[in-house]
Amino acid sequence: MNTLRSASLCLLTGLLVTATAAAAASAKPAVVIVATGGTIAGAAKSQTEAGYQAGAVAVDVLIDAVPQLKELADIRGVQVASIGSQDMNDEVWIKLANTLNELVSTKKVDGVVVTHGTDTMEETAYFLHLVVDTDKPVVLTGSMRPSTAMSADGPLNIYNAVALAADPRARGRGVLVAVNDDIHSAHDLTKTHTTDVETFTSHEPGLVGASLFGKQHFYRSPAEVHTSKSDFAGKIAGPLPRVDVIYAHAGMSPDLVDAAVAAGAKGLVIAGVGDGNMTTPALDAVKRAISAGVVVVRSSRVGSGIIRRDVEINDDAVGTVASMTLNPSKARVLLKLALTKTHDAKKIQAYFDGY
Ligand code: DGL
Repeated sequence: MNTLRSASLCLLTGLLVTATAAAAASAKPAVVIVATGGTIAGAAKSQTEAGYQAGAVAVDVLIDAVPQLKELADIRGVQVASIGSQDMNDEVWIKLANTLNELVSTKKVDGVVVTHGTDTMEETAYFLHLVVDTDKPVVLTGSMRPSTAMSADGPLNIYNAVALAADPRARGRGVLVAVNDDIHSAHDLTKTHTTDVETFTSHEPGLVGASLFGKQHFYRSPAEVHTSKSDFAGKIAGPLPRVDVIYAHAGMSPDLVDAAVAAGAKGLVIAGVGDGNMTTPALDAVKRAISAGVVVVRSSRVGSGIIRRDVEINDDAVGTVASMTLNPSKARVLLKLALTKTHDAKKIQAYFDGY
């Protein structure tokens, strides 16, 4: 009798172990889609209408529009905002970052997708790259055509973004952006065309990888400091210091530099001509700003290349910070966060050298 009982117990245990293993193997990753608005959630009057309203479509409608997502992962949606990303601001950034940090802190979430407008996608992606405390995949995506358009690019972008967020190989690569079958690092991508579907590029650093209908190939992992290794990772209390970007040009006057300081800017980024240069009157205003305790970063309006210290402008003498690989909009993001830690230009330069 005992032999029969022990045999039955062994059989039952074996069946339980097999069922558990099978369940674990078939368990899909859990991916949360966090929506902020943008064209991907945009709606136009017809499939061929160019004009549309960004952020008009809710996250659950976006998810239902791509039923194949449920083959990739267990999906649920969270709506953080419903705005065109030209209206993105510190308040939404802080709410978004704290929502993401809450989500990735639980074992129940394997990856996150953020749907976002393309206008300020690069700024939000880089902000999250610096503040989300995780090695789990965090993937932004958007679209250049509204969800109602003929040949809308949003559905496949969301599908690729979810597949990427569900891919364990995406872990530890920082915040990624999945658009137009490309996988960009938040550190490097920038928008380069007003309307083209292929608007984003990562210039000299290049792509992190490429997607094809939910299958990813990876080329590289970003070298800079990001996410869980960042000094800025974790819950954000806010408010963030005001940092303004001022566009340089021929005949640039000192007035906007002086006005930004008078308006309370704690940091300035000069989108300089060439290698981060500006007119002499503007540079004199920068020196006045630095004397008033404002930290000034030299970036460039040209869009690619590295802005290094002490080339045409002597940063050591003037007291400016060189933005290195960051364009003006991303230099503003890093300077805002750096100013929550220090106002020392040398310590801030160290952040620009490594982040
Ligand atoms: N309103 C712009 C934005 O939300 C449209 C651009 C887009 O999302 O593609 O960024």
